[in-house]
Amino acid sequence: MVSSVRAVVCLSLWLTVCRVSASHIPVRMNKTIQNLLLHYKISAKEKFNGKPVFSRELLEGKMEEKHIFIGGVLETYEQLIDQMLQQLPEQVAPTSTETKASADASASASASADNVRTDLNFILTKIQRLRRDRYQEQTKLLQGLQNLKKINFKDFVVQSKALWELPWLYEEASSLPHQKEMQRKRRRRRRQTRRGRNPARNMTHN
Ligand SMILES: *[C@@H]1O[C@H](CO)[C@@H](O)[C@H](O)[C@H]1NC(C)=O
Ligand SMILES: *[C@@H]1O[C@H](CO)[C@@H](O)[C@H](O)[C@H]1NC(C)=O
Repeated sequence: MVSSVRAVVCLSLWLTVCRVSASHIPVRMNKTIQNLLLHYKISAKEKFNGKPVFSRELLEGKMEEKHIFIGGVLETYEQLIDQMLQQLPEQVAPTSTETKASADASASASASADNVRTDLNFILTKIQRLRRDRYQEQTKLLQGLQNLKKINFKDFVVQSKALWELPWLYEEASSLPHQKEMQRKRRRRRRQTRRGRNPARNMTHN
């Protein structure tokens, strides 16, 4: 019930967005990105070097995998923008020994850094919100994968416990492809049953 209400709310929100523009990128967000690109300028040769930062390969896979990968991409964007924010020059108060010209120059530099900071924070908020609202499950899964990378292989206790946990996990890993196949078959059978039942229902209504 709650989830169907949420679905209706999501759908109507989505329709509202669609009526404003055909794209999912809000106009202000697109403008902000274009604005930032004026600051983060590189040559065309660098831009079109045939090596995108985010590979498209995993986006051509199945829906489930795609969802997980995109969740990871969003998280990476958050970290990247965090880094970009940290690299911006700090706001510095002009000292009394500074000449007027250099004070003006540093003021205008910090003003432009402030604009970039505002724009970056806006984009960051957009990404964070999308990930929080739509990618919770994927975030949890990715966190689980990252935790695997943090396991301390050198710890004797970890080594022993891992061995002890292996039989169950090995069993699970071996039976999973089989379970998936069974699920697929069951789904197909259910579909066939439903199709087979339809004429009967039609007859009882006559
Ligand atoms: C974003 O802005 C650029 C430049 O103004 C424009 O060419 C592009 O079509 C816009 N994209 C979307 C999705 O609105
Ligand atoms: C269902 O019943 C209608 C008559 O009410 C009949 O015209 C139609 O052919 C039937 N469909 C099937 C699949 O039996």
